[in-house]
Amino acid sequence: MQCATTLRTTNQMSSDSRAVARLHTVDDAERLARRRLPRPVFDYIAGGAGAEATLAANIADIRREIFLPRMGDTIGIEPRDTRRVVLGNESPLPFAIGPVGFTRSMHPTGDVAGVRAAGKLGIPFCQSSMSGHTIEEVGAAATAPWWYQLYPLGGRQGGEQMIARAQAAGASALVVTMDTVVPGNRERDLTYGAALPVRVNRNTMASMARYVVTKPTWLAHAARDRFRFPLANTHGMTRDGRPLREDEALMYWIVEPPTWSDLQWMREQWRGTLVVKGLVTADDARRALDAGVDGIIVSNHGGRQLDQTPSSLRALRDIAPVASPHVDVLVDGGIRRGSDVIVALCLGARAALLGRAWVYGLAAGGENGVTKVLEIIRNDMIRTMQLLGVRSIDELGPELLCDQRR
Ligand SMILES: Cc1cc2nc3c(=O)[nH]c(=O)nc-3n(C[C@H](O)[C@H](O)[C@H](O)COP(=O)(O)O)c2cc1C
Repeated sequence: MQCATTLRTTNQMSSDSRAVARLHTVDDAERLARRRLPRPVFDYIAGGAGAEATLAANIADIRREIFLPRMGDTIGIEPRDTRRVVLGNESPLPFAIGPVGFTRSMHPTGDVAGVRAAGKLGIPFCQSSMSGHTIEEVGAAATAPWWYQLYPLGGRQGGEQMIARAQAAGASALVVTMDTVVPGNRERDLTYGAALPVRVNRNTMASMARYVVTKPTWLAHAARDRFRFPLANTHGMTRDGRPLREDEALMYWIVEPPTWSDLQWMREQWRGTLVVKGLVTADDARRALDAGVDGIIVSNHGGRQLDQTPSSLRALRDIAPVASPHVDVLVDGGIRRGSDVIVALCLGARAALLGRAWVYGLAAGGENGVTKVLEIIRNDMIRTMQLLGVRSIDELGPELLCDQRR
């Protein structure tokens, strides 16, 4: 029995590594994720809100940018300095893994794979409050600075409990997501009759059966993980001394979403770096500065919240001049290539975050899949610097992009 299990596990692992060897781009990882995941899980990742206009604009606006390379100053083999201090810690690369919920439904290794892969490259990993792994599991697996993203599951009291645990487990930054007062209108998810966000558990497996039977690799992984897709960090949560069920904790997320005044109590609870995520206007960036944050993540949640908000680059152009003289400005949304990271840095971002890119790698091949995606982005980033003629990321600025308003 033991032998059969070991053999099955080994076969799955080698099927993961064979798959990873075939990945050359993030698009490859996306294609493989699409093949491996049941349709509802893939659509949960890939989909956006409403007509998916912002989702499309995130990528389209990056692709519209035009580089203005400088010839003759550098040679290809010269080393490039890609180091950046991001939210108080030096990172060897100016990008990080952003928070994605329910990663354990994509691959059983979920956020543990993510934080390990990030650690291999020395870059930060941000754990979502919607994680299938505990804060302590991620903290124990981290070998580079890691951040905790806060949704107030369990309301303010649950939030305080998660903040205390993240602090004890060694997270260096608390990332408060401001754009999710209710989940966005993810129309793809509605097709499957699932409540938002899509939850995969034993009960929903029956309705999922027709999507699952054709996905043997995913099914084998999920069965090995005993179909555990929990909100792991709601376990043990209490409110007024009473234990909260997972669904109750989830409800308070919407009942008590964070407001600007809440940043005050978070500041009192949290000793590390405090960051807000999900801003797309310069006015909100000013409010964040007034609230005393240490960093801002410019983000429209990958086009998953309010549709027809500014694309990530458009928002970055508005926010960076206001905020980057004072705090670290990070950006996410549509980053699929190393050259996309370079564009974001040229426009004033201190670093970029990966959302779908890393979980496509996860679904495609577990930890090795995530590592491969990170390496693809790193290598393309360095090549872009070589071709642009810059030695260090500190040399990146708007003069390396065509000013298309002219
Ligand atoms: C499947 C999925 C789940 C997400 N879950 C969270 C979350 O729990 N918390 C959060 O702050 N952002 C969440 N995000 C948003 C990402 O952190 C990030 O803002 C977005 O994915 C960036 O866009 P990109 O996917 O085009 O890179 C999620 C994104 C995806 C795709």
